[in-house]
Amino acid sequence: MKLEGKKALITGGNSGIGFATAQLFIHEGAEVAITGRDQKTLDAAVEKLGSKAVAYRADVTDSNARADLFSKIGQRFGNLDIVFANAGIAGATPLGSADETVFENIIRINLTSAFFTVQAALPLLNDGASIILNSSVIGSLGHPGSAAYAASKAGIRGMARSIASELSPRNIRVNIVAPGATRTPIWSRGSTSSEKADERSAQWATVTPLSRLGEPDDVAKAVLFLASDDSSYIQSVELFVDGGIVGSPTGATFRSA
Ligand SMILES: NC(=O)c1ccc[n+]([C@@H]2O[C@H](COP(=O)([O-])OP(=O)(O)OC[C@H]3O[C@@H](n4cnc5c(N)ncnc54)[C@H](OP(=O)(O)O)[C@@H]3O)[C@@H](O)[C@H]2O)c1
Repeated sequence: MKLEGKKALITGGNSGIGFATAQLFIHEGAEVAITGRDQKTLDAAVEKLGSKAVAYRADVTDSNARADLFSKIGQRFGNLDIVFANAGIAGATPLGSADETVFENIIRINLTSAFFTVQAALPLLNDGASIILNSSVIGSLGHPGSAAYAASKAGIRGMARSIASELSPRNIRVNIVAPGATRTPIWSRGSTSSEKADERSAQWATVTPLSRLGEPDDVAKAVLFLASDDSSYIQSVELFVDGGIVGSPTGATFRSA
């Protein structure tokens, strides 16, 4: 088992990529604390994950909730070996009609809160710990209507590199997982209808060289790699789990003769 005896925190562990990662971490021997805002899905997640999981309701943007969260994690786990700052939202900010509150909320949840989660975790982190931040291919690809989301995810890249340089003396590794379009509830949250979400995800599949959406497990396996000793000399990388959309985008349209 790759994470025997390790203690992990996964923000946004009650859904999608975070939940799949919690399942895999537990399968590999870890104890896992998950967070989210929705008590119902937190309860359902813990029921599925079993006794190695504990759920705390905490909004990542709320500094009091963060303080309370890390106090409870300290009491339960003592220290932490892994932090997966995964909680995030999508949202449209098309140039010309973007709403400032929506723009700022995306930055606040996806970027600012990832930083303050890591900062709040610091007193609990063991030397040699692994921090993984969730970005996105949208942090590298131009994509219409996505300025705030793209900025938040590109910001994760710059931020992670700075944090890594600060934590390297403690042998704490800081890396990024950058998913491509992955089949999770994020597509149909908010005002997006499930038909529109299906249409969008089908479009992504057609422009992805591997011709399909990612599954949450595809991403979880990469997070496990970055969390475990298998990546012991890997620091400050952005690992794309995207079916080739960033590295070989023409592969979707130009098949070799
Ligand atoms: N799916 C994709 O195509 C894709 C691609 C690239 C990157 N990503 C990134 O992957 C991460 C996980 O997304 P997902 O696809 O797994 O979507 P998801 O199923 O919608 O999960 C999002 C998670 O974030 C949590 N969350 C959101 N805002 C929060 C807040 N203010 N405080 C605490 N928790 C909060 C949600 O908890 P509640 O439900 O309790 O609010 C939920 O657990 C995100 O950072 C996303 O940007 C996803």
